[in-house]
Amino acid sequence: MDIEGVLAALSLEEKANLLSGQGAWETSGVERLGVRPAVLTDGPHGVRLQDPASTSFVLSASLPATCFPTAAALGSSWDVDLLAQVGAALGTESRAAGVNVLLGPGVNIKRSPLCGRNFEYLSEDPLLTGHLGAALVNGLQSQGVGASVKHFAANNQETDRMHVSAEVDERTLRELYLAAFEHIVREARPWTLMAAYNRINGVPAAQNSWLLTEVLRQEWGFDGVVMSDWGAVTDPVEAVAAGLDLEMPSTGDLSPAKLIEAVKTGQIDETMIDRSVLRLLRLLEQAGSSRSRPLPVVDFAAHHDLARRAAVESTVLLKNKDAILPLDPADRTSLAVIGEFARTPTFQGGGSSLINATRTDSALEAVINAVGEHRSVSFSAGFALSGEPNPSLCQAAVDAAAKADVALVFLGLPEGEDTEGVDRTDIDLPDVQLRVLRAVAEVNDNVVVVLANGSVVEVASWEQHAKAVLEGWLNGQAGGSAIADLLFGRANPSGRLAETVPLRLQDTPAYLNFPGNDGTVVYGERFYVGYRYYDAKDMPVAYPFGHGLSYTTFVYSNLRAVVEGEGQDVVVRVRCTVTNAGSRIGKEVVQVYVGDPDARIDRPTRELKAFTKIELAPGQSESVEFELRARDLSFFSPAHSRWVMESGDFEIGVGASSRDLRLTAIVTVQAPPLERPLDLGSTVGEWLADPTAGPLLRAALNSGEGSSIGTSPEMLEMIGGIPLDRLVVMSGGRLDIGAILQLIEHDSALTA
Ligand code: GLC
Repeated sequence: MDIEGVLAALSLEEKANLLSGQGAWETSGVERLGVRPAVLTDGPHGVRLQDPASTSFVLSASLPATCFPTAAALGSSWDVDLLAQVGAALGTESRAAGVNVLLGPGVNIKRSPLCGRNFEYLSEDPLLTGHLGAALVNGLQSQGVGASVKHFAANNQETDRMHVSAEVDERTLRELYLAAFEHIVREARPWTLMAAYNRINGVPAAQNSWLLTEVLRQEWGFDGVVMSDWGAVTDPVEAVAAGLDLEMPSTGDLSPAKLIEAVKTGQIDETMIDRSVLRLLRLLEQAGSSRSRPLPVVDFAAHHDLARRAAVESTVLLKNKDAILPLDPADRTSLAVIGEFARTPTFQGGGSSLINATRTDSALEAVINAVGEHRSVSFSAGFALSGEPNPSLCQAAVDAAAKADVALVFLGLPEGEDTEGVDRTDIDLPDVQLRVLRAVAEVNDNVVVVLANGSVVEVASWEQHAKAVLEGWLNGQAGGSAIADLLFGRANPSGRLAETVPLRLQDTPAYLNFPGNDGTVVYGERFYVGYRYYDAKDMPVAYPFGHGLSYTTFVYSNLRAVVEGEGQDVVVRVRCTVTNAGSRIGKEVVQVYVGDPDARIDRPTRELKAFTKIELAPGQSESVEFELRARDLSFFSPAHSRWVMESGDFEIGVGASSRDLRLTAIVTVQAPPLERPLDLGSTVGEWLADPTAGPLLRAALNSGEGSSIGTSPEMLEMIGGIPLDRLVVMSGGRLDIGAILQLIEHDSALTA
């Protein structure tokens, strides 16, 4: 496409139309110039393409597609290669369905476990989110289908989502809520980003020029299209001026008319429209070039197998007392399968991500198939999914458990708890389910609990009733088979928590600030989210970030951390050996955390800075290497408006979870002194420390009649913390800082 030529041929009306969608799921095109619209649809863990035959907008009326494990599950896989494969499969199904942009991945940080859409997000940690999100984008786009990384940014709750203002300090935004987007933009170059519904510090994300232009484009170099979330634009003129390119869905003639009027009245220059039109045309060109490639034939059976493997890799073995798992499928003992979720799997959340799965595996069928004629298997629903107490269902479950050697109890969050548009008010499993668990544990000591939930649930009050707990998350259409693979040892659990499991909701970082009031939510916990919070307060948790058991054990040895270079060129090479000390093949997620105890400002105790997932045969050892660079050691300094790294010691911890650091090392890093621009708000002490300005200020302090402040250490100590402009006022204007003012005017290099 001759993009510049097309732009030149477009009328203002045609341009304005391009900046709004056509219908609900397409961009506009320019038929007379052969510019075809692009088809956009959800994501993020399957292709939800509205069935053209459906006359009403019913979310479930979509064409069949593979429902992969949701992000909450995929995030627990810690497997970059796996997510690239899932992304590629999503890309293949998208292309086959004629979809040009798949609306995902969702990479918002799990600020509170109460957020109803946490099932669509990967982690509480920005590095894990960024690396896994980039893998999904790379996989998807490798098939010629664009991603739409969402929801940009600080969209961490569903309550009042289209109006609430997230009040977040810049350092927290940069280090927590923008970092994953930044990594994905820089590493995976997504075709599009989706601007969120909410406001950020009072400014709607969809018309936030600091976010969409200064940070996203000028700093990070993003050159794709920013589209709005559906219905997120309140002022299309402000939005285009701020850097939004595409308003979705269509507003008919309303928004195009406002844009045309704004150009004609000089409210915005037509070059602003052209800027977005060029981006849109490049996107339509990308879509067009994909269309020219032969349509793929989707192997849905292979995609189902991939979904099963992804679910296996994402399941977290939280507890395995007496090594009750894996069960021996040939063992002649009997099994009681209890819980409606075993028969009626809950494998995805509600809202725009709802997939019409090509097939669904129930754990019950998978368990029966796994044991064959070896073991008797009974099934009891145990409880009604509605949550209504049902004594007879409960009693039937107890009777079945009493006769069985092992009770497999399937618990989870009922429909509506993990859904777009609604947040939870607690993190408890329904009481009716826990009553069944307790009653079953009364009559059977060998209880294994399998969980199905999109965000963490409270476990501390009931896990003593179970010897083993498998956290399966919302694990996609093949999740039931995956659970059976893990229960019977056909696969070895290798998932790790991407979200801390707290002891109580009251312990969670955002507890006092969620979901906010009167249109405002204050991120009072700052960047102390998830493990950053619990570790800073040295609080006990039920299960820490990064935790997950295996059917084998891993030993860490020979940690070496070597510093090469300094400043922005520094590289810290971290290496250690991991050995499978058990008798089964297994996968370990080797995690690297960095702490900065010398920091002159507060920083989290430790932060995840690298990880890798490796498979080891029994007795096998592997040396794993990581490279940490300046950014990995840096924090964002609003005073300097940039990322800064300080000289000093850094703690490198390597291990199996954020609270199971097997080996640690201290490295010392050199960096130029951290200075910040001096201004009249800087303190007297900061000014005195400056080699140029210090003598001038001392002279000024000694200049008043009889004044000798400048030579009195006690006095200087006392006034050292006073901002210079305040001292001038306190001196009644007698303190003459003319020389300082001249310095400020002529020497912007003044720094503290
Ligand atoms: C929804 C969601 C967004 C989705 C879009 C289109 O409101 O917030 O994730 O992609 O609208 O369905």
